[in-house]
Amino acid sequence: MTRLSSCPLVSRKAPPLSGKVHVPGDKSISHRALMLSALAVGESFVEGLLEGEDVLATAEAMRAMGADIRKDEKGCWHIHGVGVGSLLQPQTALDMGNSGTSTRLLMGVVASHPITATFIGDASLSKRPMGRISTPLSLMGARFSGAEGNRLPMTVTGLYPAVPIEYRLPVASAQVKSAILLAGLNTPGVTRVIEPVPTRDHSERMLRGYGANLSVEENDGVRIISIHGEAELKPQHIIVPGDPSSAAFLVVAGLIVPGSDMIVENVGLNPTRAGLYTMLKAMGGQIEYLNPREVGGEPVADIAVKHSNLKAIEVPRSIVPSMIDEFPILFIAAAMAEGKSTLQGLAELRVKESDRIAVMAEGLKALGVSLEEKEDGLVIEGSAGEMLGQKDKMVSIASHLDHRIAMSFAVAGLVSKGGVEIDDRRPIMTSFPVFGELFKELGAEFEMGLVK
Ligand code: S3P
Repeated sequence: MTRLSSCPLVSRKAPPLSGKVHVPGDKSISHRALMLSALAVGESFVEGLLEGEDVLATAEAMRAMGADIRKDEKGCWHIHGVGVGSLLQPQTALDMGNSGTSTRLLMGVVASHPITATFIGDASLSKRPMGRISTPLSLMGARFSGAEGNRLPMTVTGLYPAVPIEYRLPVASAQVKSAILLAGLNTPGVTRVIEPVPTRDHSERMLRGYGANLSVEENDGVRIISIHGEAELKPQHIIVPGDPSSAAFLVVAGLIVPGSDMIVENVGLNPTRAGLYTMLKAMGGQIEYLNPREVGGEPVADIAVKHSNLKAIEVPRSIVPSMIDEFPILFIAAAMAEGKSTLQGLAELRVKESDRIAVMAEGLKALGVSLEEKEDGLVIEGSAGEMLGQKDKMVSIASHLDHRIAMSFAVAGLVSKGGVEIDDRRPIMTSFPVFGELFKELGAEFEMGLVK
């Protein structure tokens, strides 16, 4: 594939990181803000929207289904929604690029509308399982026809009125939960999702905020979420807090690069997302929350980070969903810690943008890290602060169209003896377009190779 070798990023041993950087908008909340605004009647305003490729794919899809979406000169997004039940039939296939969240949530939206939509995506997205979405949405009456193994390209024909269901999630997945709740918006009656292990709750918070009749009961840690259709959503003014999953790369870099002392501003700390920070503190990371506040109904703080001598950790399985996207960068932190870290219960990582267990294991081994790959995770022997890799030996990493793999190894390069070359930096544009700029502000400059 030409794409894989055409746009490299080189990361080398960095000086101490210092200064203050501001984290851009949360990806999960940005997707939902566009979708719910497009389903409200009237004009919504969204400030701080993440302008990454994944979110822009959602915007394009909502336009194709009738919403009017534009950005003003001050950077605020204006969305004129069409109302629940009034989405238009898209005239061409919806190109979801690399974005699993856009695909899965929008399949839920389409499922209860009398329209047909075809979803297509890049090579990474086309490998990802969609059966977890088509199974519950078929029970509601939608029809699916996809490539072998329930993969993209996939055509979804919605049913109106759809059938309300009660569905117990077989995998801990906020995407599956959200798809069903979004389908429930235009379904008469009560649609219910039973969640044995809590996952990120942005959909619940935001659906309520837009005026949906949604209730959450909690019994022995099991959450039962009920949405009453057919809903009428009211337009909102949303301020999107910063993305804790993007901040993670900056915070871990501050902890592992010797001499660093810095502040990462605007970090969303919703408890269903903040597991990484709890773990890093337990590893002995010097992390302090400054100026705690609420932004857009979510807890937010600035994080002061200082270089720390990290200790190995065992991550409890119950905390995994609250840091599901942060394991690639936690693996890097574990590789620099003292002792053996056991990171298991992570089978879901095998079906993310890449097989994150296999790809991280391969890259860490290339950097000389001793580890054991398990079916559901990694056991990593840390270097106790010693730089990774060998002097004068650049390590090459294949990012497999996975933004978090590319960014994790870019951070590893900052503590490497001989540097790290990532084959393709373009996936970073899906979630964190200013990644390189923020590191430059902190004093670490990546070398961006020319497109060959
Ligand atoms: C997301 C849910 C998670 C996460 C993804 C974003 C969301 O996926 O990995 O990056 O916005 O709902 P799963 O539902 O597959 O765990």
